[in-house]
Amino acid sequence: METTHRVFVGDSRTLETIDDDSVELVVTSPPYPMIEMWDDLFTELDPDIGVALDDGDGRRAFDAMHAQLDRVWDELERVLVDGGIACINVGDATRSVDGSFRVFPNHARVLEAFETRGFDPLPDVLWRKPTNSAAKFMGSGTLPPNAYVTLEHEFILLFRNGGDSREFEPGADRRYEAAYFWEERNRWFSDVWTDVQGELQDLPETDASDDRRERSAAYPFEIPYRLISMYSTYGDTVFDPFWGTGTTTLAAMCAGRHSLGNELEPAFLDDFEDRVENVPSFSRSVARTRLERHREFVERQQHQADGTACSYDAVHYETPVVTKMERELLLREVTGIETIENGYRAVHEPVVPGEN
Ligand SMILES: C[S@@+](CC[C@H](N)C(=O)[O-])C[C@H]1O[C@@H](n2cnc3c(N)ncnc32)[C@H](O)[C@@H]1O
Repeated sequence: METTHRVFVGDSRTLETIDDDSVELVVTSPPYPMIEMWDDLFTELDPDIGVALDDGDGRRAFDAMHAQLDRVWDELERVLVDGGIACINVGDATRSVDGSFRVFPNHARVLEAFETRGFDPLPDVLWRKPTNSAAKFMGSGTLPPNAYVTLEHEFILLFRNGGDSREFEPGADRRYEAAYFWEERNRWFSDVWTDVQGELQDLPETDASDDRRERSAAYPFEIPYRLISMYSTYGDTVFDPFWGTGTTTLAAMCAGRHSLGNELEPAFLDDFEDRVENVPSFSRSVARTRLERHREFVERQQHQADGTACSYDAVHYETPVVTKMERELLLREVTGIETIENGYRAVHEPVVPGEN
């Protein structure tokens, strides 16, 4: 099996490179309005934003920043197929503007924007992003009432484009082979993810890309990898309009889906060339870790008096599974990558147990 992965340099407010109804899943994380690291970028997109910030008018700046993101959400509505899912990772912002501290609720504003565009909101996920500093608490030490809660979570907002879910022919291989294990389902479809950081090891960075990665606010690999596994099948195309360091593309490569990306800053694309070399060994370890964990799960159930029954045999692996739907599950690893115009072609082979 082969997949293609294309990345374009450009402004996602006017996505000329992506056709109507050409992607089945969007996984992305925009620059967060009212987080200082993105002030300059938003001001370049609309100079009035800088004026509002200088005027100390936080509410006006917040609205104007979201107006820029709204233009990207318009494009997503156009490029996403009916029934396709959009996964938007976003955090709220806390900030003192003109001497007054408050929260700017980005998640609520993005939710409203998608609903206005005809997307159906689905139950969302909250993931915990730990801040270890003892000085993290805001406000007046240990005296009531003027201290503030520290934000340590982000949202993954989930939307379906249009009213109806996607349909598949009965028993479609591309869907059944893309099944996930029952115990993965139980963790992944939980509404609070506390186990995201370090869940699966991330790809090694070069010094330059590491620095840019820091500045890009990249999300952990596990986030797009889970979302792609949850909301797409083999043969689908995943799109990220705020591509950054390309974590979504890496996850799509490892998950055996096609991908498209769009990014304003060209330097990120050069960094990605270094990262992509390691994809074959990385994707192998991601797939093998999943299989290994499944085996550990089965063993635990067999040793527990009230363990879950693993009553079915997997077709491609020598392991029992809990549900009939998991039987055809087939993990794939990347065995080769070549450069093509605007991107890469990845060759995938089924993961064969026991081979190194
Ligand atoms: C939060 S970062 C995304 C990080 C990414 N998820 C990762 O793991 O590396 C947001 C990215 O969106 C890009 N960006 C912001 N506005 C854009 C626009 N209008 N069109 C395309 N890219 C944009 C920024 O340059 C930045 O790289």
